[in-house]
Amino acid sequence: MHALSDGVWLGGLHGLAFGGDYNPEQWPEAVWAEDARLMKEAGVNLVSMGIFAWSKLEPLPGQYDLNWLERVIDLLWRHGVRVCLSNATASPPPWLARLYPDSLPVNAEGQRLATGSRQHYCPNHQGYREAAARLTEVLAESFAGHPAVVLWHLNNELGCHLNTCYCEICSGAFRDWLGRRYGTLGALNEAWGTTFWSGVYTDWCEVDLPRKGPAMANPSQLLDYKRFMSESLRGVLANERAVLRRVAPEAQTVHNAVSLYRPVNYSNWFEDLDFAAWDSYPDPAGGLSEVQWTALTHDAFRSFKHGQPFFLMEQVTTQANWRPYNVLKAPGQMETGSWQAVARGADAVMFFQWRASLYGAEKFHGAMVPHFGPGGRVYRVVAALGAALSQVPDVVGSRLESKVALLLNWENIWALDGPGKPVALDGFEIAREFYAPFWNRQVTVDVVHPDRPLGDYSLVVAPALYLLTEHQALALKRYVLNGGTLVCTYFSGVVNDCDHVVSGGYSGYLQDLLGLVVEEWEPLRPSSLAEIHRKGQEPGQGRRFMEVVHAQGCEVEATFTNGYAAGKPAITRHRYGRGQAYYVATQPDENFLQTFFDSIRTELSIAGPIKGDIGVEGTVRRHQDGRAFLFVVNHLAKQASVDFGTEGGIDVLSGRVCRDLQSVEGYGVRVLRRAGNVT
Ligand code: GLA
Ligand code: ZN
Repeated sequence: MHALSDGVWLGGLHGLAFGGDYNPEQWPEAVWAEDARLMKEAGVNLVSMGIFAWSKLEPLPGQYDLNWLERVIDLLWRHGVRVCLSNATASPPPWLARLYPDSLPVNAEGQRLATGSRQHYCPNHQGYREAAARLTEVLAESFAGHPAVVLWHLNNELGCHLNTCYCEICSGAFRDWLGRRYGTLGALNEAWGTTFWSGVYTDWCEVDLPRKGPAMANPSQLLDYKRFMSESLRGVLANERAVLRRVAPEAQTVHNAVSLYRPVNYSNWFEDLDFAAWDSYPDPAGGLSEVQWTALTHDAFRSFKHGQPFFLMEQVTTQANWRPYNVLKAPGQMETGSWQAVARGADAVMFFQWRASLYGAEKFHGAMVPHFGPGGRVYRVVAALGAALSQVPDVVGSRLESKVALLLNWENIWALDGPGKPVALDGFEIAREFYAPFWNRQVTVDVVHPDRPLGDYSLVVAPALYLLTEHQALALKRYVLNGGTLVCTYFSGVVNDCDHVVSGGYSGYLQDLLGLVVEEWEPLRPSSLAEIHRKGQEPGQGRRFMEVVHAQGCEVEATFTNGYAAGKPAITRHRYGRGQAYYVATQPDENFLQTFFDSIRTELSIAGPIKGDIGVEGTVRRHQDGRAFLFVVNHLAKQASVDFGTEGGIDVLSGRVCRDLQSVEGYGVRVLRRAGNVT
C-alpha cells in the first residue's frame, strides 16, 4: 500500500509530497491556469482541495455542482499535480442551519452559535451527519476514480473551534453514552462519586452535561464529558470514513489534526485512517521551546500510526493572522520547520494555503503565492524548497527508530485539568519538560499511550501519570520486570479512570514497583523552590511541586535539603525484576534534569546520531534494506557546533561531499544519504 522504496507512493506520486491547501473556488478560472503553471514550476505535486467548498459544491440541499471541481482537477492533472480531495464537510452552508436550526451548536452559556464563521454544527446532529455523508458519497462517486485524486482529506481539524456543545441533542447523546459505559444508574452514581455534595441521581433524566453551577463541577462528570465530546468528534470522522469505505473501498484517507490539542484524544484517532496528519503553526518568536513543542508533536503523530510516515498537512510560509502579534518567520525558518518535519518522519510538507485570499477572515494569513504575487521573495523560497525536497524522493517510506518512549494519555491530561487540584498542573507542559533532555541531545523519542506495548524500548519516561489504571500499572511492572528502565514523576498513580483516589498513600498501584509511598505534597511557589542534592552532580532546584516520599525498598538517588521534606528523597531508584524504576518527586530545573537523564542514557547506551549544540536536531530515517538518511537541522539563527562523528557523506541538498563535520550555519540543514548502517 504505502511507500514503495523507489519513492513512488500514493497513486504514482513521486517523492515527498509538497503543496498545500488550494481553494480555487475563491478565484476566477483565469487564475486557475496561472496556479497550475506556478505549481508545476514550484515543484508542487499535491494540493488539498475543496475543504471549505460545501456551499459551491451543493449550492442548495441535494443540488450538486461538481463541474467546476472536475475542471480544476483535470487542469491540475495535466500539470502533474495530484489532489488530496476533501469531502468538504468542515463548514456547512447556511442552508443547513435554515433546514435544521438545531444543528447549530450551543455554548456553555446556553447561547446558540451562529453561521457566518466555520465549524458551526453540533457534532451529534443527525441532520448534519446525514448531509455530510451524502456529500461525501456524491464526491466519492464522482472523483474516486479520477487518477489525480490520490488521497481523501476527511473534514478539517475536527474540534479546533467546536469541541463542546451544550445543546439538548448532546445532552441526550451524553446520557446514551453513559448508559452504554455504565449500564446502570447505580454504576454511574458510583463512578461519579455522587454521594459527595448530595448529588445522587435517582432517574436518568436528572443526568446532564456538566453545565455551569455555583461551585466547582464534579471532576468525574467533567472527565466523562471530555471523553464523550472527543468521541462525538471522532464519530463525525467515522461517519464520513464509512461512506468512503462503502463507495470507494480503495480510497486512501487522512485527517489533519490541530496539534497536541487538549479537547481531542488523538491517540486512537488514526487507527481507521490511512495516514495521520497535523497542522504546525509554531510562533516564530517563541524560541526553542516552540521548536521543541513542534518536535514533540511530530514524534507523537509519527507514533500514533506506529512509526508510519505522516503528513505535515499545514504550516505557514511567513506569518499566521490569528495571534495578537503575527511575527514573520525569519529567512530560513520556513525551511528548517519543513525539514524538521521530514527529519522526524513526515513524507509530506504542505502549507495553508497556496494563494492568499483577497477576502475573508484569513486574507492576511501567509501563503505560497502571497498578495505580492509570484515575483517576490516568498514564492521564490517556496519554489526553492520544492526543488530541495525533490532531491530526496527515496526518503519516502523510511522510518525512525527510538529506544525511548514518553508516555502520553489524553485522559490523564483531562483529569489533570479537572478542578480542585493542589496546584494547576499542565500535563502537556510537564511532558515537554521531560522530553527536552532528549531533544537537547538529539535523541529520538516515541510518544506512546500507556496501553501500548513497551517491550522494545530501553527507557520509558512517564511524566505525571496522575490517572493510571491498575491495568496500566501492571503493564509498567511487566516492562520493568523484563529489564526495562522506567522514570515516573510526581503526581503519578493518584487516581483511577473515574478520577477516584487510590487509597493508602499516593502513587497507588505503583508503590510496589517504585518501592515507595507518597504521604503528602506541596506546591512550590517561584519564591519557595526546593533544593535537591544528588551525588556527583551540582545541587539543583525543584519547582512547581514536591512530595514527601517514604522509601520502602528503593535507593535514594537525590534528597531535598530544605523545607518541609528536608532529608527526604527527591529522586529514588528501585531495582525490580531485571529492570529498575526511578521516581522524581519534583520538577527539577532544566540543568539538573539534563544531567540526571544524561547519566541514565549513558548507563543504557542511548545516544543520538550526532552531537550538537542545543537547538540542533539530528535524526536518522532508515529503510528496511539499510539505506539511511541523516538529517541535521540547525534551528538557531547562528552557526552551531555539530559533531557528525567520523562518518561523512554526500549532502543531498548541495550535492557535495559534506566536509565540514564540525558545524552548521544558522538555519542550516544537511541531509546525508548513507548506504550502510548508521546508528
Ligand atoms: C487551520 C485550518 C486552516 C486555516 C489555518 C490558518 O490549520 O485548518 O483552514 O484556518 O488554520 O492558520
Ligand atoms: Zn450539540
